[in-house]
Amino acid sequence: MIKLENISKSFQINQEELTILRNVNLEIHAGEFVGILGRSGSGKSTLLNLIGFLDTKFSGNYEFEGKKVGEYSDKELSKIRNKNVGFIFQNFALIETMNVRQNIEVPLMYSGISKKKAHHLTKDCLRKVGLVDFESQSVRLLSGGQRQRVAIARSIITSPSFIIADEPTGALDSKTSKEIMDLFQSLNKMGVTIILVTHDESLTSYCNRVIHLLDGEVME
Ligand SMILES: Nc1ncnc2c1ncn2[C@@H]1O[C@H](COP(=O)(O)OP(=O)(O)OP(=O)(O)O)[C@@H](O)[C@H]1O
Ligand SMILES: [Mg+2]
Repeated sequence: MIKLENISKSFQINQEELTILRNVNLEIHAGEFVGILGRSGSGKSTLLNLIGFLDTKFSGNYEFEGKKVGEYSDKELSKIRNKNVGFIFQNFALIETMNVRQNIEVPLMYSGISKKKAHHLTKDCLRKVGLVDFESQSVRLLSGGQRQRVAIARSIITSPSFIIADEPTGALDSKTSKEIMDLFQSLNKMGVTIILVTHDESLTSYCNRVIHLLDGEVME
């Protein structure tokens, strides 16, 4: 599904060129649960942004489902992103003024599907993440773990090709982290492809495959 060939990425800072990713070669197949492990500053988030079509300024070749990502226009790429990628972040990134259902339905806003169908999809996602009774609850009143469940429900509502999670348990205690990782594992068993970034070695036991990033280089 995802094929990165000789991907490099640098930033220009004070006339100095800082290389963040070096010749990354990586393939990710549908159905995998891939962990990307590396120290702070090793380029994990940079790599995730690139995989999630948020960043197109890189050298090398990125093929998604057999097509070169570099050949899409920005407009085409944002369509591809909306359809194919679910994003999960450490800080949940929920909209505080909305309730649980409204947050989960955000990715459907421009999809043109009916309210009825959206409600139906939301119910299904709430069931998958174990929040059936929280549909009308304000997200302000939720615990960290519950917030991350809402974010996960939001990430899967469009049935994306893959979800990318950047330190999804970074703000959670160890018991809640385990619950969230168990949830990822059960979603993966239902067929969801997951790319997880973490610097917590213990979480990699949930993954099918672990990729180590060291100073922007892949050490698989
Ligand atoms: N927009 C940018 N401009 C300049 N440098 C950047 C930019 N984004 C990231 N960097 C640099 O790239 C390097 C890798 O950053 P990145 O965020 O990918 O690391 P990370 O592995 O996700 O770290 P962490 O575990 O702390 O989240 C860092 O040295 C960072 O300072
Ligand atoms: Mg990061």
